[in-house]
Amino acid sequence: MSRTLSLLTPSGRLTLGSYLGALAPMAQRQDDAFYGVADLHAMTTEHDPRQLRALSAEMATLFLAVGLDRATLFRQSQVPAHAELAYLLECVATTGELNRMIQFKEKGRGVESTRVSLFTYPALMAADILLYRPRQVPVGADQKQHVELTRDLALRFNRRYGEVFTVPEVVTSSGGSARVRDLLHPQRKMSKSADSAGTIYLLDPPDVVRKKVARAVTDSDTGPAAVRADPDAKPGVTNLLEILAACGGSADGVTTYGALKREVTDAVVSLLGPVQARYADLAADPAYVTGVLESGAAHCRQVTAPVLASARAALGLA
Ligand code: TYM
Repeated sequence: MSRTLSLLTPSGRLTLGSYLGALAPMAQRQDDAFYGVADLHAMTTEHDPRQLRALSAEMATLFLAVGLDRATLFRQSQVPAHAELAYLLECVATTGELNRMIQFKEKGRGVESTRVSLFTYPALMAADILLYRPRQVPVGADQKQHVELTRDLALRFNRRYGEVFTVPEVVTSSGGSARVRDLLHPQRKMSKSADSAGTIYLLDPPDVVRKKVARAVTDSDTGPAAVRADPDAKPGVTNLLEILAACGGSADGVTTYGALKREVTDAVVSLLGPVQARYADLAADPAYVTGVLESGAAHCRQVTAPVLASARAALGLA
């Protein structure tokens, strides 16, 4: 048995990066799989309660629309063990470790108004993972450091307090899909919270995809050799080629940037079309989606209870 677990944070609308880096690999591993909406993580930066509710519902609906119909789906906040184990792991993690997390350094270190929860974020993420004793955690490259910290915490906990946790493996997709880049700023990842016209959202209609891809940065090279991957010298073109390959398209015989962009648009639009059609059907029946999440959370509460109880006992709690 190879249990799989992953969560996504509803801090914005899901992007092509979320899909290629996480949802597609998740969809390939659905036996004994737990996939969650990390709504508690969405509160680590300024958030609006109404928007959090809407984005969480949209994310869960998209989970189903991309085909995650055999896995257990849940909202993190509906499984109280996550918050409780997170505290226990804060008693295992050190400030030095948390200070080294790239995401914290980039998003909040040294800023007075940074929420305390942004600092302790990796302990909550470690709890998300360790509670389920998964073997595999499929994530994009940007989350690898957090999963590695999770492994360190599990090993330390087991050594000091007794064998409670399994040490999970990080699984990242191959090629460029582990780090899909912003179409306008290929030096950074395509992010759901970036508010950039270089982000393709899963629910973008075809004409919006077309416009965004048409504006993607390339470079001023011309001639038949211009269309080639070279991450350092040609990050924009490389990103387009990687997106094309990840969406199942091919650049064979493509010699101009205009033709490349047409291929990318067609590949993305045909990938998103069926997802959007299923999304529209599911969105018409929100009670169904809520029901899936509630039964998923009930299953999660059962699965996590003994692990939390072992962790508590190992640490000397009643
Ligand atoms: P989040 O919500 O930022 O991203 C969700 C997943 O999508 C991947 N991803 C990408 N992959 C490739 N290219 C991109 N441009 C791109 N953007 C996002 C992310 O790597 C991630 O796999 N802290 C996590 C959520 C989380 C979690 C967990 C993940 C909470 N608990 C436990 C795994 C296990 C996050 O905010 O991901």
